[in-house]
Amino acid sequence: MAQESGFSIQFNENDQVVTLAGVLRPESALAGAEVVRGLREAAAVVRGRLYINLKRLEQMSYLGHRVFTSAVRAVLDAHPDIEVILVTSSVVPWANRRFAPIAARWPRLRVEQYDQAFYPGQRVIESDGLLPVLRAQTSVIWRHEREMLSRHGLKPGAAVADICCGIGDFAMLLWRNFAPSRIVAVDHYRPFLDYARSVAGEFGAEDIEYQYGDAASLFLADETFDFVTSRLALQIFDKPAQIISELKRICRPGGRVYVTNEMMGHIYAYPKEEPVTWAYRLIPQMAASLGMDVNFGPKARAYLEDAGLVDIRVDLLEVNNVNSDLRDFAAVAAGWRDYVVDEVAIATGQPPEVVERLRSALEDFLYVVENRRGFAAWPIYVASGQKPQ
Ligand SMILES: C[S@@+](CC[C@H](N)C(=O)[O-])C[C@H]1O[C@@H](n2cnc3c(N)ncnc32)[C@H](O)[C@@H]1O
Repeated sequence: MAQESGFSIQFNENDQVVTLAGVLRPESALAGAEVVRGLREAAAVVRGRLYINLKRLEQMSYLGHRVFTSAVRAVLDAHPDIEVILVTSSVVPWANRRFAPIAARWPRLRVEQYDQAFYPGQRVIESDGLLPVLRAQTSVIWRHEREMLSRHGLKPGAAVADICCGIGDFAMLLWRNFAPSRIVAVDHYRPFLDYARSVAGEFGAEDIEYQYGDAASLFLADETFDFVTSRLALQIFDKPAQIISELKRICRPGGRVYVTNEMMGHIYAYPKEEPVTWAYRLIPQMAASLGMDVNFGPKARAYLEDAGLVDIRVDLLEVNNVNSDLRDFAAVAAGWRDYVVDEVAIATGQPPEVVERLRSALEDFLYVVENRRGFAAWPIYVASGQKPQ
């Protein structure tokens, strides 16, 4: 996470948040005046709670710490009606260690580690149960996606970032097939990154930079990458626009942001349409109760446009049992069955009869995938946009 340089402090009055980012290493207490002034000015206008966002604060020197804590103390003393909340994340563990003991002593100061439970579906997504599903999915998708990537602007030698990289197999495929000049892959689940690093080690791909991080607050500098990808991931966030704005931030002008997402409601199987359609109507509802939109796919174009990206290109990547490796597709279908029944249905508190019906419907889907006399299709919506020059 040593990508940031410099230091910045910004105040968003609407959200009552002061955001500190970069490296706070003032050469003298005077140089910390920016921090003191920033906090004082913010405190003068906020009502109730002042949030100080430390999620992208890479480092803080001893002197920086002193300047910062005394500025916070001054705010608390001058404004007895204000509560100050330091917002940290597991990506900056040092901040929790440093500030939690202070907050325990000072009234009206709290530390909140925002990504402890930062989206309702976190325990379902950041789960070892997803690993075989991700592995099978990338195998079956790659054959189609490889061609598509060139159409969406990926060129050999590009600097690439894969955000929400999962188990890292896509980064590995890019590394092998597109020889990127640099490739950084970020995820928020450490066991996936451990897996990714061990695979990369086996293939001698040590130059893939796997990084623990948060897609909403990346430790990557502005305008660094030619091609920024986030695959099958916007659909798990309840604020996808926030993630797209981070993807755009780290993309170079002229570079492209590339996203893929599902529309589970469009998954289809013949015969067995009835149970399969029932299941793939219910799954988006269960996912919605966890804050996810697994029907996000067709909305991607609008989101990319709204983020100010241009030259939007969209594609439909359809995995079906005519155009894909049947064993791989069957592994995906079996993975979904187990993951939905064992994890998603349980996490969303489905009654036993619904769990049983789901299991049977997902068995039916697997049956159709494996049976060439039927037809099963899984559409994935691909979209990319260019960051204006
Ligand atoms: C559905 S998986 C997709 C993984 C991968 N892109 C793929 O296509 O196989 C979503 C991934 O997002 C990761 N994730 C969830 N929240 C995240 C966050 N805030 N920052 C970075 N990664 C996150 C999860 O750990 C998971 O690996």
